[in-house]
Amino acid sequence: MDSHLIKTINKLQDAFSTVGVQNPIDLPQIVVIGSQSSGKSSVLENIVGRDFLPRGTGIVTRRPLILQLINKRDGLTNSAPASATQSPTLSKSPSHSNANVNEYEDSEQNMNEWGEFLHLPGKKFYDFTEIRKEIEKETELKVGKNAGISDQPINLRIFSPKVLTLTLVDLPGLTKVPVGDQPKDIERLIRDMILKYITKPNAIILAVTAANTDLANSDGLKLAREVDPEGVRTIGVLTKVDLMDSGTDVIDILAGRIIPLRLGYVPVVNRGQRDIETNKSISKALESEKQFFEHHASYKSKAQYCGTPFLARKLNMILMHHIRNTLPEIKIKIAASLQKYQAELAQLGDPLGEDITSHSNLVLNIITEFCSEFRTIIDGNSNDLSS
Ligand code: GDP
Ligand code: NA
Ligand code: MG
Repeated sequence: MDSHLIKTINKLQDAFSTVGVQNPIDLPQIVVIGSQSSGKSSVLENIVGRDFLPRGTGIVTRRPLILQLINKRDGLTNSAPASATQSPTLSKSPSHSNANVNEYEDSEQNMNEWGEFLHLPGKKFYDFTEIRKEIEKETELKVGKNAGISDQPINLRIFSPKVLTLTLVDLPGLTKVPVGDQPKDIERLIRDMILKYITKPNAIILAVTAANTDLANSDGLKLAREVDPEGVRTIGVLTKVDLMDSGTDVIDILAGRIIPLRLGYVPVVNRGQRDIETNKSISKALESEKQFFEHHASYKSKAQYCGTPFLARKLNMILMHHIRNTLPEIKIKIAASLQKYQAELAQLGDPLGEDITSHSNLVLNIITEFCSEFRTIIDGNSNDLSS
């Protein structure tokens, strides 16, 4: 995800912790929905930028995976209060000057990044391939090898300096005909499971549809519309654009001429089954995706609005809007609690009162600056949201 947004949120969190407030920004959950094998897990994995989700033809994702990304900075914890002399400022902090690191490092192990499962407390997974194996193992343990599904989630946390503290949810795909150990009412079962996650007003829905299928029959879009009829939190994602018959394209869909969506559609090209089998890396896959859109007759004039990086930017914009809308309320809360402390201190006749007042005003100023910084960023990119 966007390193600018990560840095901004880190700075905000530092500012909050100086007044003893823990992480008041509750970011939305991102939930992927769609038909089986439409490419949901592939899309999610590309957004995170790491290889760790089971993917493939047939029903692979058979339990919800609640993936909590946790921003963990080197040698820093969010609870460490900055001292008055090292108050956070909006200037670039030297500890984050290495921001241009590749966000899509492949399989290489890094002691700063690891995963932990709720069902295996205390065990750290530094090898992301092992994370995938553990998801597969834990899935089979609960629902067997024969296509069974369960609504009991697997909880995975990923700690990394390169992620936003954010929750993503990978879900089994919508399907109609039971296979293997699946119950007769599989369709309703999966529907209910998905609804549980997307009904929350705080959820951003990535409604995934394979571009080589009919959009009018998209189960993901239909379900999204039930809980978000205005389309204020649904992004359409068109996968498998590379598998469309030659001479056909998704231009009419992108232009909103088929099923218009307020937040629009993003076409992507994920790794195909062969790429999975040959372990094609994420960075190579992103490069091929870029080449595909830049050289395709239908897309080359609008390549900047296509592909995974544009989808990530779109998500960032939505998150920024959310933060901007949340900040004024947080500001009021902080100001109120400061007033209370100041009144208490005044009653005690505490000589430190003066210090605390100036310190807390500093924090409020920082938050105010962030509010206007967000406005600038959002206004400068507003066409991202209406393309
Ligand atoms: P899910 O069941 O919706 O989670 O879908 P997966 O992510 O597991 O993908 C299902 C299959 O479709 C896998 O074999 C993927 O390699 C393939 N796939 C997904 N997206 C694309 C794409 O954009 N292009 C191609 N060629 N294959 C894709
Ligand atoms: Na699949
Ligand atoms: Mg899946």
